[in-house]
Amino acid sequence: MRALLPLVATALAAWALAGCTSMPSAAELDREANATMKASFHDQGIAKADRLNQDLAQAACSAEHAPSAEMAKRIEAEALATVKWPAGGRYVGDWREGEKLAQNGRGMTWTDKSAATKSNGGSCYNCHQIDQKEISYGTIGPSLWHYGKTRGVKDVADPASAAVVQYTWGKLYNSKAYVACSNMPRFGHMGLLDEDQLRNLMALLLDPRSPVNQ
Ligand code: HEC
Repeated sequence: MRALLPLVATALAAWALAGCTSMPSAAELDREANATMKASFHDQGIAKADRLNQDLAQAACSAEHAPSAEMAKRIEAEALATVKWPAGGRYVGDWREGEKLAQNGRGMTWTDKSAATKSNGGSCYNCHQIDQKEISYGTIGPSLWHYGKTRGVKDVADPASAAVVQYTWGKLYNSKAYVACSNMPRFGHMGLLDEDQLRNLMALLLDPRSPVNQ
């Protein structure tokens, strides 16, 4: 801290000498903060410095004010357009695998030496209650206990369930398609989980045989 004081004093003196009468604007400070961030980070392991580049939603949702309703709609429409619907319309896999994936929080850390060979987990329990037997879960997201049951899904192949099934796939693929500033990871869009993994999570949430719907 003490070492910083002369620096701060020098900066202030330079500012005064330059004859500045007003403080830098918010936009100027933002530019400087960005330049400092860019200069301080570098590629490391699987974490590349391009993570500092914000996309439309990230920029709008981390700005001082929440995005306007119009901007939120645009973010959601662009996010929905990124959703890749499952090959052959096969939406649902094995709920047992889905439960393992929901429990699994591995991946995405730059120290992870096995990133190239092992797939990521879903970390769903970090934010959601899912199977009631699991007593340890986060509450950032709503409870997903009885997810399919409360939405009336008796048979995932039944056309009457199509809207719920499609919404759930879209939500897992790119959560911002329905909530512009969602805190939920964009599992498909960001390449965190593949199609088969998404199918297994779909089964966990929607299959009437899954413990989630008992
Ligand atoms: C970092 C926290 C976080 C993680 C991890 C997370 N979610 Fe979410 N999720 C949320 C939040 C917050 C919401 C509610 C706001 C929204 O819609 O984005 C949500 C909403 C949902 C919804 C919609 C619920 C409804 O009633 O419409 C589903 C389905 C869902 N999450 C499934 C999952 C699954 C499956 C996983 C794991 C692959 C997961 N989430 C991981 C935070 C998270």
